[in-house]
Amino acid sequence: MANRLPVDEVINPDGTTTWGRSPGGLVTALEPVLRAQHGAWVGWPGGIDQEIEPFESDGLTLVPVALSAEDVEDFYEGFSNATLWPLYHDVIAKPQFHREWWDAYVEVNRRFTERAVEVAAPGATVWVQDYQLQLVPQMLRELRPDLRIGFYLHIPFPPAELFAQLPWRRQILEGLLGADLIGFQLPGAAHNFIRLVRSRVGHRTHKDTVQMPDGRVVRAAAYPISIDAEEFETLARSEGVEARAKEIREQLGNPETLFLGVDRLDYTKGIYARLRAYSELIAEGHLDVHESIFVQVATPSRERVEQYRLLRDETDRLVGRINGDLGHFGRPAIDYQHASFPREEMAALYRAADVMVVTPLRDGMNLVAKEYVACKFDDEGALVLSEFAGAAHELRQAWMVNPYDINGMKATLLEAHRASPEERRRRMRAMRAQVKENDVARWAANFLGDLSGPSGPRPDAP
Ligand code: ADP
Ligand code: G6P
Repeated sequence: MANRLPVDEVINPDGTTTWGRSPGGLVTALEPVLRAQHGAWVGWPGGIDQEIEPFESDGLTLVPVALSAEDVEDFYEGFSNATLWPLYHDVIAKPQFHREWWDAYVEVNRRFTERAVEVAAPGATVWVQDYQLQLVPQMLRELRPDLRIGFYLHIPFPPAELFAQLPWRRQILEGLLGADLIGFQLPGAAHNFIRLVRSRVGHRTHKDTVQMPDGRVVRAAAYPISIDAEEFETLARSEGVEARAKEIREQLGNPETLFLGVDRLDYTKGIYARLRAYSELIAEGHLDVHESIFVQVATPSRERVEQYRLLRDETDRLVGRINGDLGHFGRPAIDYQHASFPREEMAALYRAADVMVVTPLRDGMNLVAKEYVACKFDDEGALVLSEFAGAAHELRQAWMVNPYDINGMKATLLEAHRASPEERRRRMRAMRAQVKENDVARWAANFLGDLSGPSGPRPDAP
């Protein structure tokens, strides 16, 4: 179960509704996993007051949880995305603490729990996903001790010093401890969690385990998430995608070098500093708008949350200023699209790009970096990657940057741009081997294998 279903109900301009793919890395990663498991997916269909019965979509059983306008405001936009999201991402934006948002978080977590209780068979495994649902493991265990409960956090887990700001820190830790296994992207996050449980809840811990007063042992460990690499590669190899990649380059005036950024429009992604670094390279004459272009695609995201609105205005202004100052007729420095694209178009963009620039200020994993690598089946292309993305721990052959260091970023962009074809191929080959071997099926098998544990699923049904 996750806050979002893999599909969103979209209202068309003529008032009719259709289902579209939901944004973000969680859906990208989990969809193939759930399809293979034949499980049910409990989640929110993305709109307001949608009382919808469970339905089948593309071989998946979807179990919708309705949210009211107030829930969306207080639980989703408020506590999830204006309290927890900034707090867990190094407080890049200032987290806001409001007691009524917390009340909504508790109440909506309870509703998700009740929905899962209705659909979970005796002794079933329930896998709870991400920061929006951290109280669900404990709530589920109280109602259904027969279940195996796993929890996975897709975003970073903050250092104890930052987490300690949260007025409801103990409740969140206790909520998570309802799970048998708690998964994080990186080992550091699992350590932060264990340390906090010891100091704030007072349970005994040993290495990566917590000894619960009721005799249970809870484990917290790292399971770095991934993508369905084979599916991306197959898509990238298709004729349609190859033709579209060529067409994109033509439409951009056949530049010698195409730099690409692809993100949800989020302040954690470091879009502003990245575009500034690129524009300075043009302004200083290291790059030329007749030879290079930067394509930045940004998916609209959380548009009613203030920080996201500010970010959109800031990005619009920056791109306008850069192109106004540095562009020529038909030769902008930056081609900026505030849009969401189908998967084929994404693959075509990855195929077309010479240098992929992934520079988040903090990111749990960042699947875009892995998607790019998966699509480069000819070993061409360079990846510039932030040290602060979870992916940096696995894609070690990328050109690494500190996204706060604009001069450093400029130097590294140039280095990646000027690298010899052999150097690029050597690095890409190593990264491709990593992504192909550690794909999302393996991630799920590792987590679910550990969750079912040596003792196996529990036989005692309610
Ligand atoms: P996050 O989960 O924070 O959004 P990730 O990089 O892990 O970041 O995952 C983003 C996912 O969203 C990827 O699967 C990527 O392909 C997809 N995506 C990003 N931008 C777009 C876009 N403009 N159109 C369609 N899909 C996008
Ligand atoms: C990240 C989060 C997901 C979330 C996604 C899209 O990947 O980890 O939980 O679903 O972003 O954000 P949204 O707020 O649109 O669901």
